[in-house]
Amino acid sequence: MTRRIFSTVAGLVVIGIGSATAQQPAPSVPAGNAKAGQALFMKIGCYQCHGNEGQGGAAGPRIGRSPMLAFRNFVTYIRAPRGEMPPYSAKVIAEKDIADIYAYLASLPPAPAVDSIPLLKP
Ligand code: HEC
Repeated sequence: MTRRIFSTVAGLVVIGIGSATAQQPAPSVPAGNAKAGQALFMKIGCYQCHGNEGQGGAAGPRIGRSPMLAFRNFVTYIRAPRGEMPPYSAKVIAEKDIADIYAYLASLPPAPAVDSIPLLKP
């Protein structure tokens, strides 16, 4: 009897853990096409402020970087920026295109360490 209760409780715990895992959102980075993303980055004009490789420029910070912003935060920011950046609605840039841009930026190599750049050595 005790044994049966124990296994029932154990079973419920397992079910509980299972459903808790199932409720977590899937890691939602849609597969993007980095090459198409690079073209969009230039065409839409992100490069004008953020630099050709998202390295940062006169009018925008570095966005091609590791670690990247989480994809959801990346989309949210582009739709509703809080500072100087203009907003991009779904009409201007579809989420699928943002996924391509994200894939492009994520595909870039990380910035070199500062002390590996001779001019920046103390
Ligand atoms: C007119 C200049 C300008 C353009 C064009 C622009 N941005 Fe920005 N972006 C900024 C600035 C400035 C910031 C810093 C925060 C702010 O002022 O909004 C920023 C911030 C961001 C951030 C948030 C960075 C962080 O770490 O929080 C992301 C992501 C981003 N831009 C992506 C893009 C993408 C993708 C495009 C093209 C669809 C784009 N931006 C076009 C100026 C620009």
